[in-house]
Amino acid sequence: PPQPDLDLAALVRTIPDFPKPGIQFRDITTLIGHAAGFAESVRRLSARAETYRPDFIVAVEARGFLFGAAMASAMGLGVVPVRKAGKLPGVTIGVDYELEYGVDRLELHEGAVEAGHRVVLVDDLLATGGTILATAELMRAAGAEVAAALFVIDLPDLGGARRLNEAGLPCETLIAFDGD
Ligand code: PRP
Ligand code: MG
Repeated sequence: PPQPDLDLAALVRTIPDFPKPGIQFRDITTLIGHAAGFAESVRRLSARAETYRPDFIVAVEARGFLFGAAMASAMGLGVVPVRKAGKLPGVTIGVDYELEYGVDRLELHEGAVEAGHRVVLVDDLLATGGTILATAELMRAAGAEVAAALFVIDLPDLGGARRLNEAGLPCETLIAFDGD
């Protein structure tokens, strides 16, 4: 049953100094390992996603898969994976994006979304917004309409929500951690 009072933030573990000194790593493994916490996370994300009436859920490798796949199944939709370079076997389209150090590449199977389809993007966490903006760019290259991006966690100090807002991409998050 729904548990609207469940405190999801309390189920996220914080690991200091990972992956390097000074970083507070927000670890979702404790949230997804908690049956009620995982179910409630997926329920809240799905309820928000429904308001955009998407044709597909698009989930970002790797941690976004955990939530996006569960949401899509709960909503009766298919899920489209956006993967890191070199993982998808078919013909792909790709986009390079900036990381804190260097660049990475995300890829999508050609034909995985059709022109005109509405999609909701899902990832576990919004930091700088680089990953989800690259994903949105891939969707537009494929001709899809990006309705919104949904996340479990926002780190507002890293400015991702502001960048998405400036890019005209609606975003919603379930919980936020200040001080990152
Ligand atoms: C993390 C997180 C988001 C992204 C957020 O993924 O899961 O996808 O970073 O950062 P951004 O808003 O600054 O782009 P990461 O690439 O570390 O890998 P993983 O999901 O494969 O663990
Ligand atoms: Mg990720």
